[in-house]
Amino acid sequence: MDISAIANRALKSAGEAVASEPSAAEKLAHLASEDMKAVNALILERMGSPVPLIPKLAKYLVEAGGKRVRPLVTIAAARMINYSGDAHLKLAAAVEFIHTATLLHDDVVDESDLRRGRKPANLVWGNAPSVLVGDFLFARAFMLMVDAGSMPALHSLSRASSIIAEGEVRQLAAKGDIDASIGSYMEIIEAKTAALFASAAEISAIVADRPQDEVTALDTYGRELGLAFQLVDDALDYGGLAQALGKNTGDDFREGKITLPVVIALRNGSESEKRFWSRVMSDGEQEDADFDTAMELLDRHDALKATLDMAAEKSRIAKRALEQFPDNEWKTALIDLADFVVRRAS
Ligand code: IPE
Ligand code: IPE
Ligand code: MG
Ligand code: MG
Repeated sequence: MDISAIANRALKSAGEAVASEPSAAEKLAHLASEDMKAVNALILERMGSPVPLIPKLAKYLVEAGGKRVRPLVTIAAARMINYSGDAHLKLAAAVEFIHTATLLHDDVVDESDLRRGRKPANLVWGNAPSVLVGDFLFARAFMLMVDAGSMPALHSLSRASSIIAEGEVRQLAAKGDIDASIGSYMEIIEAKTAALFASAAEISAIVADRPQDEVTALDTYGRELGLAFQLVDDALDYGGLAQALGKNTGDDFREGKITLPVVIALRNGSESEKRFWSRVMSDGEQEDADFDTAMELLDRHDALKATLDMAAEKSRIAKRALEQFPDNEWKTALIDLADFVVRRAS
């Protein structure tokens, strides 16, 4: 059985159309290029330190790029609602710092061997420097938030930061648990991924002093976008191209991380299929042919398609949350971004 054919079939059928070039994320980056220039300057300035290893290690990851999706959400949302100040720039930089810090920690925890198309920082400098520089970036994110001068925005992002950590710990505790439910999986991704997207979106309305219903609508947009993003990421782990993703596929399987495709295959699987998942995911006894078998089981139960359908549903909810805002190019860009997040799987 050709694994990539199975994956491509499931992943392709879920996308409504293949995204045309350039992608919505790239278009948004272009639209926001002036603000993003300022955000990138802040990122470079604020990761400076007289301790040479800190900027060296941080730069290694920052210069490798990354999509900058989260700060773009902050910028686009602020522009959509016509915010006239400049606090959104510091907040957007803080959002990217928090994300970068979690990636440094995540690659240690997940023992990944590819990040943004490069060796993860911990494989270049070791786990300890990665964890410590991650802490430094977290701390610098908080300084940026304080400088932005909005207590409610500080509240939102610091709350999101603690929720991310809770999500990561929860996921760790759920490793290999083949009894995991869809609900517990959703709670984990809501915490580890969607909380930061939600905060990245709502802080724009918070700092612009907009009414609560706009804050709530943007929180919903970001949260649902984040859920869609992680659902697609989890589907791609079973079928994406490492080259396009800049990170390895199959990591979740090797780690015994029970993501939605596996939860769905388990729910619909026979007793012998459950024994298979239990051996490879809970006992960690994996042989060469097991990944192929896993792919066949996911295909048998349409698990990748179901995962991507769920992502498409989240993306629709995200877009609906923007309905109350006046139409402008920024709103269009945020809508396109919600489409892109799902279509990057096709
Ligand atoms: C990776 O996020 C972590 C997840 C939540 C899946 P991104 O895919 O946004 O990573 P970069 O910043 O573009 O590298
Ligand atoms: C990334 O999560 C880190 C956070 C969301 C905090 P994953 O471990 O699922 O993502 P990748 O695949 O390494 O980017
Ligand atoms: Mg992880
Ligand atoms: Mg990881």
